[in-house]
This record gives sequence, structure tokens and C-alpha cells, in this order.
Amino acid sequence: MQRIAVLTSGGDAPGMNAAVRAITRAGIAKGWEVFGVRNGYAGLLGDHMDPLRARNVGGIIQCGGTMLGSARSKAFATEEGRNTALANLKRRGIDALVVIGGNGSQTGSHSLATQGYAVVGVPSTIDNDLYGTDLTIGVDTAVNITLEAIDRLRTTGSSHQRAFLVETMGRHCGYIALMAGIAGGAEVIAIPECEVEPHDVAARLQAAYRRGKSHALVVVAEGAKNGARAMMQHFAEHRDRIGFELRVTQLGHVVRGGVPTAADRMLATRLGAAAVDQLALGNSGVVVGLRGGEMTTTPLAEVAHKTKPPDLALLDLARVLAQ
Ligand code: F6P
Repeated sequence: MQRIAVLTSGGDAPGMNAAVRAITRAGIAKGWEVFGVRNGYAGLLGDHMDPLRARNVGGIIQCGGTMLGSARSKAFATEEGRNTALANLKRRGIDALVVIGGNGSQTGSHSLATQGYAVVGVPSTIDNDLYGTDLTIGVDTAVNITLEAIDRLRTTGSSHQRAFLVETMGRHCGYIALMAGIAGGAEVIAIPECEVEPHDVAARLQAAYRRGKSHALVVVAEGAKNGARAMMQHFAEHRDRIGFELRVTQLGHVVRGGVPTAADRMLATRLGAAAVDQLALGNSGVVVGLRGGEMTTTPLAEVAHKTKPPDLALLDLARVLAQ
């Protein structure tokens, strides 16, 4: 192994830069040359890559987003696109690729691996729904940003005896809403994996009001069938009496931006270095992960065909604790 390339793909996640730094410096420490690919798979197709030296990745460990840029490339999903990408890598004498990204990105890694190219995946998505790791890069920051918003809304909610519907990110996975909801003491949590009907939400809010609560919080994942706006509309149309006045806050991309937490920096650093170690051992076609506190590898073929659901037993716990 003499030359490797690294790219970040899909939705950005806080901690991606820490992973780029770890991969670059761990690779250089092995005597390799490291290339950074611009804008994910689109950069592979367009042959947009530059050498990364130790100094190029200085001062980025604390920065959110990704210094390499990220994109979703439709062209890469075609065989022609992948062949162009492989031809570009081979022409530059690059022996292996490290892909930092979530489900869609690691499905792309799998396609390259099945064409015989050496690829190692580093799991990164704020949704934490990638199979093969307990945690993905970015989720800790996203949960903490959501939690901070919940805590802030609680104080203003208490002053006015209001209920807040807080919508956080998670198109197909409710992990962020579930964790931030429990840590924030939410009265109701609604996620795509376990839908809650608006009339049930109304009943729970009304019960909280009758128990004398000064505020109530409903945390909703963006991908839930009954999102925050849908619930607001339902309450407006059906005039359900919930006691509290109701307001809605949609956090959107705020959840994905900003400074990575210490936990995300550490996870990204360990996973990035582990990816380089795997390549040095001659292993590829895997995603590195952290399971039960141990660094692990999972075949890309498995990762590409599975997702990881959140622990739904926690929803029952949240309901008990909201009394
Ligand atoms: O997959 C990460 C994620 O942030 C999801 O939670 C969200 O639904 C989606 O990306 C948003 O994608 P985009 O940035 O393309 O709007």
C-alpha cells in the first residue's frame, strides 16, 4: 500500500473532519501518500483530488462539516459512473479508498468493493442507523444540539404554561428524537419506527396538564408520519383541548451543523485510525465500527443490506418517566 484516498459522502456530520485528520496522519505515519477527494463520489468521477499532508489537516478537529465537501452523486450509481471513478483512481496509482459516510455512501463503497477495489468504510451519519456499529460519527453532537433546544424550550414553556412540539432530524430513523426526548424529559416522543396518532398525543398532553405540569414537550422525528406541522394542523382542525397553549419549533439542519462534541471527535479519530490499520493489514471490503466498546469490522455486503433500528424498549421507559 502506498497511496490511499479519502472522501466524505452524503449528509455531512460533525466529526467528519476529525476522521479525515486521523486517516491522513495515520496513513502518513505508515509512509503512505494520502489524497483528499472533493465532494464525495462526484469528485471521484470528476477526478477532483489533491494530496493531503499533515499540515493540510491541522486545526480542523474542532470544525463541523467537512473540509473535503460532500455531495450525493446520481452518476456514481450507474456502472459507467463507477468505471470512470475506478479509472481515475487507478490512473493516479491510488490503491485504496476510505469512504466516510452513512447508508447510501457505504452502499457505494460496496459497489466498488464488488468490482475488486480495496475500500474501507467509516460510519458517519447523524441518524445513527448504519448497521455494524453502535454509534456513528455525528450522532452525539446532533443529540446534544437537540437536547439544548429542548432545555431552552422548557424554560420558556414553563413561564407561559405552554406545550412545545419540537421536530428534529431523522428521515427514516428516530434515534436522535428518542435519545434527546428521554434526556430532555419529553412527555411524548414520535418516531418513524413507532408512530403516535395526534389524538393520542392530545390525550397525553391533556393528562399532563391535569396533573399540574407547567409545560410539556413533544419530540418528533422529521420522518414520523405525523410530523410537528401535521400535529399542529390536526389540533387546529379538531380543536382538541390539551390545556396548554401550543407552539411548534422545527430544528432542521441546525441539528447537523456546528462544533463536534468530544465524544464525536474521539469516535471519528478512533474509527479513522482503525480504517488505516485495516488497510495496512491487507483487509478491505469492510466497515470499521465500535461495538460494545471494541473496534470491529463488518463486511460491506452486510452493511449495504441492513439498517440498525433504535431500541424501542426505551419508548416505554420514556412513557413511564413522563408521569
Ligand atoms: O441522513 C442525515 C440527514 O440529516 C437526515 O436526518 C435528514 O432527513 C437528511 O439528512 C436531510 O438531507 P438534506 O441535507 O439533503 O436535506
